[in-house]
Amino acid sequence: MAASKGTIIVTGANGSLGSAIVAKIVSTPEFAAYHGIYTVRDTASAPALNHALQTTQTTRPHNHDLLSLDLTDLTKIREIAASVNARVVAADIPPIRVLILNAGWQEYTTQTWTKDGFDMSFVSNYLGHWLLTMLLLQSMDRESGKIVVVGSLSHDTQAGQNNSGGQFVDPKWKVIFHDSTEPVAKGTWSTNKDDPSWCSGYRRYAASKMCELLMIGELQRRVDMDPSLNKISVLGVDPGSMPTNIVRRAPWAIRTVLFSIMHLCASLVVWLMPNGPLRTTRKSAGDILAASFDPNTNKGLYFDGSARAEMSPEARDPVKQRMLWTDTLKYTQLKSGETALSNWT
Ligand SMILES: NC(=O)c1ccc[n+]([C@@H]2O[C@H](COP(=O)([O-])OP(=O)(O)OC[C@H]3O[C@@H](n4cnc5c(N)ncnc54)[C@H](OP(=O)(O)O)[C@@H]3O)[C@@H](O)[C@H]2O)c1
Repeated sequence: MAASKGTIIVTGANGSLGSAIVAKIVSTPEFAAYHGIYTVRDTASAPALNHALQTTQTTRPHNHDLLSLDLTDLTKIREIAASVNARVVAADIPPIRVLILNAGWQEYTTQTWTKDGFDMSFVSNYLGHWLLTMLLLQSMDRESGKIVVVGSLSHDTQAGQNNSGGQFVDPKWKVIFHDSTEPVAKGTWSTNKDDPSWCSGYRRYAASKMCELLMIGELQRRVDMDPSLNKISVLGVDPGSMPTNIVRRAPWAIRTVLFSIMHLCASLVVWLMPNGPLRTTRKSAGDILAASFDPNTNKGLYFDGSARAEMSPEARDPVKQRMLWTDTLKYTQLKSGETALSNWT
């Protein structure tokens, strides 16, 4: 087996964007030289990922592993992270050059909780990724490791394009976090019971993406203060609107009509406006990998596709970043010795 240059981990690798990222890795000699670890909910059912691995034109062999990881299962996250860490220690795989937090869950008119009583969007999109990241920090490449959060404009309650259905028009939705993260974490904020329209689930998804972006600033600050981890970068990339399976739980009109139109138009729109609001997964996969490997795109930056962008003011608020961090320690029950980060408490 040829030695790999480093390890790339992609979560949600059987998804539309996830499998496009894998296809881009496999088809690009520079990226294919890395060892891939692709996590999916269940490796026995990963058709899009297998298709990307088996049918993409390759120019060189690509060492990789497929791992089953449901991000709502905090015990399983601990097991997977321990096995990856042990392999890095044993030099069976190289340190992690890029950790791409891509998995995403979105629901609209339904509401689902995890077995631990958390909102499904909160855990799938944020909490599971936060825990995985904290546990894997010890295996990150200490010179040029990057943690890449797949963000979303949905987090920005003030953005005009994010209000097409009036989901954030009421002043009570303009700010997601006040003095506690618990309503969002436990799914008592924007419940499907209080508002049976699709907007309630969309807002919970938006709140979970907000959490992912709040994590960027706080984690970068803490990593910067740690002498053994301070060269690691944490950044975010908004892939734009893409016609993908994320809408599988959406009402019929959104799922079929709107996304079919988006599907038909996406390639043409990308051709006319390369970094416009509507994108293909292929374009966004390229943007995410470009940000992951560009030596200049580091330290807490945020990108809208291939362009530098700003997160919303709420996502940049250091008080809210710290509040979420403190609460997250409680939600995940992170223990001493589980993370390489010195100032984690
Ligand atoms: N599509 C868009 O317009 C858009 C816009 C902005 C940002 N994004 C972001 O892009 C990323 C990729 O989404 P996508 O559009 O490619 O959607 P997708 O096709 O639905 O892919 C998402 C993947 O995440 C996996 N996933 C969800 N919950 C999980 C969990 N608890 N544990 C493990 N895996 C889980 C899904 O697995 P299952 O199939 O097994 O559920 C799926 O494979 C997400 O972070 C999303 O928020 C998408």
